[in-house]
Amino acid sequence: MSNISSLLHATYHHPAQRPWAKERELTKSLLMYPIFITDDPDGKTPIDSMPEQYRWGVNRLEEFLGPLVNKGLASVMLFGVPVKIEKDAVGSAADDPKGPVIEAVKFLKNKFPTLHVTCDVCLCEYTSHGHCGILYEDNTINNELSVKRLADVALAYAAAGADCVAPSDMMDGRILAIKRILLENGYSNRVSLMSYSSKFSSSFYGPFRDACDSAPSFGDRKCYQLPQGSRMTALRALSRDANEGADILMVKPGMPYLDIVRDAKNLHPEFPIAVYQISGEYAMLYRSYEAGVFDLKDAVLETLESMTRAGASLILTYFTPRLLDWLEY
Ligand code: PBG
Ligand code: ZN
Repeated sequence: MSNISSLLHATYHHPAQRPWAKERELTKSLLMYPIFITDDPDGKTPIDSMPEQYRWGVNRLEEFLGPLVNKGLASVMLFGVPVKIEKDAVGSAADDPKGPVIEAVKFLKNKFPTLHVTCDVCLCEYTSHGHCGILYEDNTINNELSVKRLADVALAYAAAGADCVAPSDMMDGRILAIKRILLENGYSNRVSLMSYSSKFSSSFYGPFRDACDSAPSFGDRKCYQLPQGSRMTALRALSRDANEGADILMVKPGMPYLDIVRDAKNLHPEFPIAVYQISGEYAMLYRSYEAGVFDLKDAVLETLESMTRAGASLILTYFTPRLLDWLEY
């Protein structure tokens, strides 16, 4: 007969008891859906590397999001995909008032007033070289100019009505610069700042770069995105951004970096911790399901349980439309 303290089954033998053992229940309110908006207003083009995901034109957003909002969609994150607008060295199209993101924010805040809208802030979708910042002649990052430009872009999204801006560029000091510009322009109390704080250099971004045509035309992002094996640098990035005025801290990618999610929650329990289940994770899960490896619902829910267990209270995932069917509330 085992020791009394070795008896575990009674803790979770009944289905009603299992949620009591969880860190956090999975609910629709935890989800943010990343979506792609093109500057072809009537467009709906499939993304080959991301089944079930499309690049949407502004005129199609109502038919796309209306049904999801009715099913309980609480928040979206917008990525601009310029197909017509010309790209240049400083990413001028990022805050073009006629550009896809600004038009989409305005439309969404008007059409779905309760929907929370976050704008990803970066330059790579709009620069001719595909890097996330502005470059010097020798192709290294001009951090100062980049940060200034990113702050201007963030301000333009705030002015268009975004509820949250989320810089994914990984330049040094951009959180402080964006917080300052929001404050100076009277947005600090109504536009939150979600930092992609621990964003690692990753092969899992592949399908996204395909979706946005945003792969760097030379080199890679290793000089600004975090080195894969480094936990301590990721922790420095988290506390740096916490001190610079971030409201939400994000870890990205998700599944391969859940140790960092747990660290983030332990070290910064006063912040909501977000985790981004990125395009490559989406494709990996989807393609495995297609190959008969597992049931999609079971596998995806398991990945989300692992994220809340690690400490996340906000999950960005392309599975959101499916999850709105799978989750009850
Ligand atoms: C660009 C950006 C990337 C993602 C979000 N913003 C890709 C990158 O850094 O190359 C990745 C999202 C995903 O893969 O789903 N700054
Ligand atoms: Zn970028």
